[in-house]
Amino acid sequence: MTEITLEEQILDRIKPGPDEKKKLEEVATELLEKVSISARILGISDITPKLVGSAARDTWISGTHDLDIFISFPEDTSREDLENNGLLIARKVAKEGENIEERYAEHPYLNMQYGGFDVDLVPCYSVESASEIISAVDRTPFHNEFIKMVIPGREDDVLIMKQFMKGTGTYGSELRTQGFSGYLTELLVVHYGSFRNTLRNACDWKPGLSIDMLEHGTIKHNDPLVVIDPTDPKRNVAAALSLNQFARFIDAARAYSEKPTEDFFFPKQKEAMTDNEIIDMITSRRSSFVAISFRPPDLVDDILYPQLDKMEHSIRALFEEYEFYVLNSGYWVNEEAIILIELATSQLPLVKKHRGPPVWAHTHAKGFKDKYLGSDELFSLYIEDGFYVADIKRKFTTAKELLEGRIQHCSLGKHLGKTIGLGFSIVENTDIARVNDPGFRKFLRKWEQGK
Ligand code: UTP
Ligand code: MN
Repeated sequence: MTEITLEEQILDRIKPGPDEKKKLEEVATELLEKVSISARILGISDITPKLVGSAARDTWISGTHDLDIFISFPEDTSREDLENNGLLIARKVAKEGENIEERYAEHPYLNMQYGGFDVDLVPCYSVESASEIISAVDRTPFHNEFIKMVIPGREDDVLIMKQFMKGTGTYGSELRTQGFSGYLTELLVVHYGSFRNTLRNACDWKPGLSIDMLEHGTIKHNDPLVVIDPTDPKRNVAAALSLNQFARFIDAARAYSEKPTEDFFFPKQKEAMTDNEIIDMITSRRSSFVAISFRPPDLVDDILYPQLDKMEHSIRALFEEYEFYVLNSGYWVNEEAIILIELATSQLPLVKKHRGPPVWAHTHAKGFKDKYLGSDELFSLYIEDGFYVADIKRKFTTAKELLEGRIQHCSLGKHLGKTIGLGFSIVENTDIARVNDPGFRKFLRKWEQGK
């Protein structure tokens, strides 16, 4: 009896079976026809409907029902016509869909649920080559052609790689994840030949790595990983990959090479921390936890997440500026948004050392002394290493006072600035165990175990 390898077992779970494939093909064909017919009825000629993305390349994972349908317009169509007519067609097709939503990337497109599938109907320009694109989505049909040409025989490796990335939290190029896109995953598997060989190589990746399969790259990119788009020499396909996700993938590749287990593909769900576990974690670390909680504005993920990121960094910077030593920070969002900061201490002494000019900078030195001598802020004024130092009263001695006093002045991003203006609350230390949302308590578990 031949042994079934772990990777074969995983493949068994994620590879769509013949019925599931047939269903997808039927729905896709139906939608492509509907696009053509709707366009004809609306008197919009010259469009070509195309199925793109993983559904068109046999690189989709069983159970993920996502159909990317592009409506391709001639190059000389005005942007206004493309947007208006694209949406007219999409809306007509969507008559039989559910949860229809108009979304906006570089231009508007439509998302709906249809026959059990999550369908995007995306207008794009049909251009000569991917280097002449008018809108960012115009590259996609070229990706499709390229991958369809080079992927046959390696689809299974792509599936396993996608599942490995999903399991290790590195799959997805949206701003929330900043990981590997589907197209990037496919290119890596093509370049290295297989799942195994990609991981073997990834163990020794270093930032600055550049993969240029067609040796046609034209510009220098400053990203951790550079994979020149075979369909567009100017583009780095890995531009959305963050340094941390790049590092996380290397780390996962090494750990998997040492000891391959199912957990890499299907990690055990993190358990929500209990009240006692939260209290234990916080007290055993003997640090100070400060959480800022508020109602998040209703924004799409690609706008919300970067703003939460920015807010987290601004708050860290605020603490550092006022001499609170920051150990860790993170955020979590659902119905409520929480930015969590771990400080060495949330309580500073009232006295603060304030260094002035060197004694020999005569004019400045005089100004400094005049300012502080006799001021009721001053404890003492003395010379240290040739500099005047004033021990003065600190304005904010607790993390809470600092946040209440200064958060509005942090750079918070357009929408979150407004939101914070409407109100927020601060929760400290073991009171954090009063937040009941299980999602937040799983987030704390990740904190406890290392993110
Ligand atoms: P998807 O995000 O649906 O990816 O984008 P996918 O390749 O179909 O993979 P999965 O299996 O659904 O996760 C559809 C197409 O849009 C282009 C790619 O050509 C992709 O195949 N795209 C998407 C990009 O070029 N870059 C991106 O960041 C996202
Ligand atoms: Mn897709």
